[in-house]
Amino acid sequence: MPFSSIAFSQCEALFVALVGWVPGIPGFAIRTLVYKCLFKRLSGMAWIQPGVTFVSTNRLTVGKHFGVNSGTYINAIGSLSIGDYVLIGSNVTISSGQHPIEGRMPPVFARPVIPKAIVIEDDVWIGAGAVIMPGTTLRRGTVVGANAVVTRDTEEYSVVVGAPAKKIRTRDGAP
Ligand SMILES: CC(C)(COP(=O)(O)OP(=O)(O)OC[C@H]1O[C@@H](n2cnc3c(N)ncnc32)[C@H](O)[C@@H]1OP(=O)(O)O)[C@@H](O)C(=O)NCCC(=O)NCCS
Repeated sequence: MPFSSIAFSQCEALFVALVGWVPGIPGFAIRTLVYKCLFKRLSGMAWIQPGVTFVSTNRLTVGKHFGVNSGTYINAIGSLSIGDYVLIGSNVTISSGQHPIEGRMPPVFARPVIPKAIVIEDDVWIGAGAVIMPGTTLRRGTVVGANAVVTRDTEEYSVVVGAPAKKIRTRDGAP
């Protein structure tokens, strides 16, 4: 790994630790300011609760009106694009990298990460405890149920639940 990447990840870890715990409105404000410098792009005010982990933020773009709850882990190693009006519940995992698993040697631990971009379009709500798998796209308006595991691209305005996540309905009914 080049020295510049190591230096960036160390600075990133330090800033996430320093501002990641600050409670209340000062916490939202300081995290928005710091993450506007750290992320590849953060467009507006972000409502990031304490205790959210971000990794590889130089490959993370986030739109306007972003909300994310405590315990969530977001790793943009393979690039992650988040649209406008996206809400992410607590303890969600979104990681855009995968280890190759074929063959017995070397151990998976020792294999390099394969980048697999994740795209989360506008107006997506991800319920608590969900896992968004590498390489998936959550189309505009998707709702992901609590504890779902999203393994494939979703349809616009669909509601998906379960592991693997399946569509149970659309959001096209009366509000
Ligand atoms: C996905 C969700 C929005 C669906 O709500 P809904 O459309 O009102 O769905 P319903 O409650 O009518 O349930 C419809 C069916 O899906 C099932 N279902 C709903 N949510 C589910 C989930 N998360 N996982 C598995 N099945 C689920 C219900 O059991 C029901 O099945 P049935 O028809 O066999 O009885 C909601 O259930 C959910 O998971 N919300 C996330 C809540 C959350 O995480 N909040 C905190 C974060 S901000």
